[in-house]
Amino acid sequence: MNKAIENAQNIHDLRALARKRAYKMVFDYIDGGADDEKTLKHNSTAFDEYRLAYKVLAGVDKIDMSTSLLGTKIDVPFFCSPSAGNRLFHTAGENAVAKAAGKIGTIYSLSTLSSVSIEDIAALTDGPKWFQLYVWKDRALVKEMINRAKAAGYTALILTVDLPVHGNRERDPKNGFTIPPTIGVKQIWEAIKSPAWVWDYLTGEPIKYANINSDLEATSLIDFIGAQLHAGFTWDDAEWLLGEWNGPAVIKGVVRTDDARRAVKTGFNAVTISNHGGRQLDHSPAPIEVLEDIVQTVGSDAEVILDGGVRRATDILKALALGAKAVSFARPYLYGLAAGGEAGVDKALDLFITSLKRDMALLGARSINEIDQSFICGKR
Ligand SMILES: Cc1cc2nc3c(=O)[nH]c(=O)nc-3n(C[C@H](O)[C@H](O)[C@H](O)COP(=O)(O)O)c2cc1C
Repeated sequence: MNKAIENAQNIHDLRALARKRAYKMVFDYIDGGADDEKTLKHNSTAFDEYRLAYKVLAGVDKIDMSTSLLGTKIDVPFFCSPSAGNRLFHTAGENAVAKAAGKIGTIYSLSTLSSVSIEDIAALTDGPKWFQLYVWKDRALVKEMINRAKAAGYTALILTVDLPVHGNRERDPKNGFTIPPTIGVKQIWEAIKSPAWVWDYLTGEPIKYANINSDLEATSLIDFIGAQLHAGFTWDDAEWLLGEWNGPAVIKGVVRTDDARRAVKTGFNAVTISNHGGRQLDHSPAPIEVLEDIVQTVGSDAEVILDGGVRRATDILKALALGAKAVSFARPYLYGLAAGGEAGVDKALDLFITSLKRDMALLGARSINEIDQSFICGKR
């Protein structure tokens, strides 16, 4: 492992390393959010409103971080959120993330818009795998994708519902961001500043959305995706989809109690509270702010996952204490990936494992099911 990655003390250090290695437009695509990026920042700072009242003399010589999600046993109470086009960030791409997640005994969730296919990821790891779906207008295409995921052994479907249209991410047009990235006259200076990334990119396999039509170049697919995103999708369509999938299903992108209640009624088994990491509607609430109310609303009818802004193990503890079954995150592992491929993803996940173990001991909780509301003081 490269020394700088080895020496990273936290996710902020990995972010700085990603910024150093990756081509600017690629780093900004990971790092950026919508409009003024208020929600992007607030997702993390909202955790500061809660403090952790630790217990003493709790006999914390053995710490058990394992739990389960939708019946799948996982060794840590967190997993990797789906994220598009990982080979843009590093040639190791989704393969690196899927392998890293498998090594630590947690779930890997593959994006519809991944740059490695459903089948190739399935062949790579025996770890638990979920498949994330964006809804397309073409129902035949939707059916084909979920059938492929099922055949390849993905055990749950994640339906992302906070992207009826693309959010306004202003860093991207400013940088001239395209998929695949272009290195024209305007970008040449940025390219010179990130030689390792540029070399890998120019000498590697072309980047494609591997699940859609492997014969098409990513550039021509952008229009296809824009035209196919189904802004007209409704709860009735979601019910149809669940019937087609006929298995465990997660709805991702909910921030309201009425939507959470409707999701449970529609048949979803888990609700991921998320605003897409502040990439969609700016000024939407931070997941941690709405967690308690949503947990109360769904009760034991669905599991609740918190997604967005998690950068420290204490964020995970706060989410679990307020009723989340687990958390998920994307940028932390994407910073690791962009900084150093699989070693960088390993490092990001290891930072969470090491600090969660230490922080559970400091909190006075020996296992995940001991973490309850009594540990929270502050906003309540
Ligand atoms: C670069 C990038 C690509 C993403 N692609 C997807 C995607 O394809 N599907 C999806 O459901 N969410 C996607 N997301 C959102 C993440 O799954 C997750 O909800 C969000 O990033 C959580 O916030 P965090 O990055 O602060 O952990 C993406 C996020 C990022 C940063």
